Amino acid sequence: MDANELHKIACAMVAKGKGLLAADESSGTIKKRFDAINVENIESNRRDYREFMFRTPAMKDHISGVILYDETIRQKAKDGTPLVDVIKASGAVPGIKVDTGAKPLAGSPGETVTEGLDGLRERFAEYHKLGARFAKWRATYDPTRTSYNCVNANAHALARYAALAQEAGIMPIVEPEVLMDFDNDIETCARVTEWVLKDVFQELFYAHVQLEGAILKPNMVISGKKCARQAGVEEVAERTVKILKRCVPTSVPGIAFLSGGQSDEEATAHLNAMNAGHDLPWALTFSYGRALQHAPQKAWCGRPENVGAAQAAFTHRARMNGLAAMGQWKPELEKQAA
Ligand code: 13P
Repeated sequence: MDANELHKIACAMVAKGKGLLAADESSGTIKKRFDAINVENIESNRRDYREFMFRTPAMKDHISGVILYDETIRQKAKDGTPLVDVIKASGAVPGIKVDTGAKPLAGSPGETVTEGLDGLRERFAEYHKLGARFAKWRATYDPTRTSYNCVNANAHALARYAALAQEAGIMPIVEPEVLMDFDNDIETCARVTEWVLKDVFQELFYAHVQLEGAILKPNMVISGKKCARQAGVEEVAERTVKILKRCVPTSVPGIAFLSGGQSDEEATAHLNAMNAGHDLPWALTFSYGRALQHAPQKAWCGRPENVGAAQAAFTHRARMNGLAAMGQWKPELEKQAA
């Protein structure tokens, strides 16, 4: 492991005005996205979809890294170029999701622990050969029922994953996600997020993970989707920054949020408010899946003749989030199509 190299990758991921494209949907998750636009979930459609995003010229200005799924890191573009090379040509770094998903946690009904540690050292060696220079592992928490068992099991797994990644020369993105799908209030999200992050950093310490060579990918502190009181943009920004400052050491080069089910514009507005209104010890940017891809998916609908419009939609969202990462986004800019 070259600590300096890991630090360089982490810093590149959060370079000024850039963020990550999370395109690591498993074949099951991309099916849900394709079903919504009536596109058949077959290998060639998954390839065509990802290929047009990776070939969008705006990648080079706004996207620092792309998180891939196992199928995609091995896939070739229509002309035979490995998709990894298409990403590299845009100046972005290819990365890989290595967890195998959240499974029911024994002893804690309704809660999950993320699996994927078995054989991970060997998988990392292969992914490194395939071109991955960073990785991602996501743990999820239901804030209405989070138990110590769940917090502890997931923090331990995240730390073991991160240590194995660094050993392989791969920069780990550590993603603990307090889900926003429930009826809890923002106070509950704040309390659970703080608990989760405290425990994650404790376990990273025990596992000898070098924080200078890692990125945190957290949820924002936000009201549950089904909660009657929805906190506004300033409150979300304020509370998120407060909790992060309590929990995230300044040796971590950057924090790249997940969008978690927020609308495209909310995800941008929240990131912008954090960057515009706060003194921050780390770079704060995006690592969005849905909030970057929803618009291009709708514009594409699986039709080759729509690729130009879909690339324009992707460019627009990438540009808006790039501006938000610098605190320079304004709602008026949403009206100007790319
Ligand atoms: P969303 O932005 O859609 O939450 O996806 C980010 C991600 O990588 C989830 O693991």
